[in-house]
Formats: sequence, C-alpha cells, structure tokens
Amino acid sequence: MKVTPIADKVFGAVVSELKLGELSDAHFAELNTALLKYGFLVFPKQFLSDEENVSFAERFGDLEFAASPMSNKPKNEDGSYADVSAIDTQLMRTNVGNEAWHTDSTYKPLSSKCAMLSAVIVPDEGGETELADLRAAYVALDQETKYRISQLSAYHSAQFSQANDLGDFPPQDETSIYHGEAYLRPMVKIHPETGVKNLFVARHAFGIPGLSREESRALLTSLRDFVVSDESRVYTHKWQAGDTLLWDNRALLHRARPYDYSLPRVLTGTRVAGDPESELAYYPTDPEAQAGREALAAELAILRVEAKDRMFGATTATQGRYSAR
Ligand SMILES: [Fe+2]
Repeated sequence: MKVTPIADKVFGAVVSELKLGELSDAHFAELNTALLKYGFLVFPKQFLSDEENVSFAERFGDLEFAASPMSNKPKNEDGSYADVSAIDTQLMRTNVGNEAWHTDSTYKPLSSKCAMLSAVIVPDEGGETELADLRAAYVALDQETKYRISQLSAYHSAQFSQANDLGDFPPQDETSIYHGEAYLRPMVKIHPETGVKNLFVARHAFGIPGLSREESRALLTSLRDFVVSDESRVYTHKWQAGDTLLWDNRALLHRARPYDYSLPRVLTGTRVAGDPESELAYYPTDPEAQAGREALAAELAILRVEAKDRMFGATTATQGRYSAR
C-alpha cells in the first residue's frame, strides 16, 4: 500500500497498490491514520461493488445511508438506472444545490463523520468533486477573527441553503432533509479524534445568535470565501470511472461542479454518521430545537421575497419528490 500526498496542496493523498475490497485490519488502521492526517484519500481504479462500498464504509462506524446513487439518474427497484432527471425535479435542484460548498448532514441532529463516493458513469467534462481544507483555513485566520468566532455558533438547515443559494423551496416534510428544523453548531470545531481545531461553516449555516442578520451573513460569506481563497487549500478531483474518494466531513468542505445535465453522472455514495459525543446538536424533541425552528421559519419568510432573482425564482419543484436523505 502506497500513500502519496497530493502535490502543491496542504491536504489529501492518493492511495495505490491496495484493493479496498480485500482490506486487512492492519491496512485499515493505516488508512484511518492517513485519513485523519490528510483529510481525504483518493483510491483510483477500485471499481467497488455496492457490497464492497458498504463493507469498507462500515469499518468507520454506523452508516447514514449505504451505496445510494448520488446521481442525475434515479435507481429503479430492480437496480437498473432510470432516465436522466429533468432540471426542474427536486432531485436535480438538490444536486445543483450541492454545487455550493458544504459539509454533509450538518442539517441533521447528528452530522456526518465521513463520506465516500465511487464513480460509475462520469461525463468527459465537468462534474468534478472539489474539497477544501477547513483546518488549514482556521490556522491561517488572523487572531482577531479567531477570537471573534471562538464563542459563536450558527444554525444549519438544507431548507435555508436551497432557498438562499437557488431560490428553491422544497415542500417541508419531516421525513425528508427539508424537515423544518435548524441545528445549532459551533463555528469552530475541535476534531474529536485529532483535537485539531477547524472552521465549521458553509452553505447550510445561517443565523448566528447574537449577530444581526446582515452581520451574520457577511461573516459566514467572508469565512467561506477565505477558506477557498488559497489554491493550496482546494483540490479538484477529476473523476475516472472506478475511482473511490473518501473524505472527513468533520474537517473538510466539498462541492460538486457543474456539467452538461443531459448527460449521465452516476456516483455511488455512502455516508458514515458522526459520533453523538462530538457531532450531535440535539433532537427535534429536545427543548432547544424550538429556537432553531423559529430562526429557520423567520429566515425562510425573508428569503421567499429575497430569493426571487435566484435560479429557481423562489419556487417549489413541480415534479419528482426527493427521497428522504
Ligand atoms: Fe455532499
């Protein structure tokens, strides 16, 4: 097994001379150490089956979901793929939303530990996945900003991010990711396994308690822009079919890149849940959930007017309900 750091970047490594489908405990331990150090690992030419995706991911912990298509082609019940979805479906609105920087599942009670994508069908151009290092970004912040954000938290909601980034207002449904709750999370995260601090904000974050709406928006935007302002903190993965990419959702941002949406793009996604000790905000039944729910409702009411100029013009998709994720 060979681990080669990505050239000219502060994070990331390519792992070769290893078959993930036949991983020994010793090699897994090495990979886990490498993931904590590098933040993400690229495994070229693996061509993992769904079962191999799942059994590798399960070594990291409980799964949020297993070997699901992260795709513009929904999977049929018999395992075949349906036609490419139209841009006006909720599936595609959600996919396009993921072209803004984010960490996975911060809009759930328990945010994600790590995630994995394996490329099945990829377009020749575009459709890359990009990653950004929130640890190096935190280190590079000036002392004043570090001090300012040290005690601040922000709410996280996928309804907020869809509305704010795209003017997309999916129907609220407590069984989907558009559930009406917002989860308060510290803007500086202490990594539960390494103890290293990193920024922990991006598209799902809004409404910093104690700041005005304008101050909060300005601070969140400036922090996100700062993270990706240095090329050494951003990596672009140009997919080849068979690649697997694994990243630490507690310490990295990621986003998809645009492509010709009429062409198929099929990645198999598996997501590992965070540890309740370090990734749990609260549950909808907890008393502190009420403040998040109210902050989100107030924010969405403003965005219903403000987001009319965005891609979907403050509308709700007319077809294709999004499956619960
Ligand atoms: Fe994601």
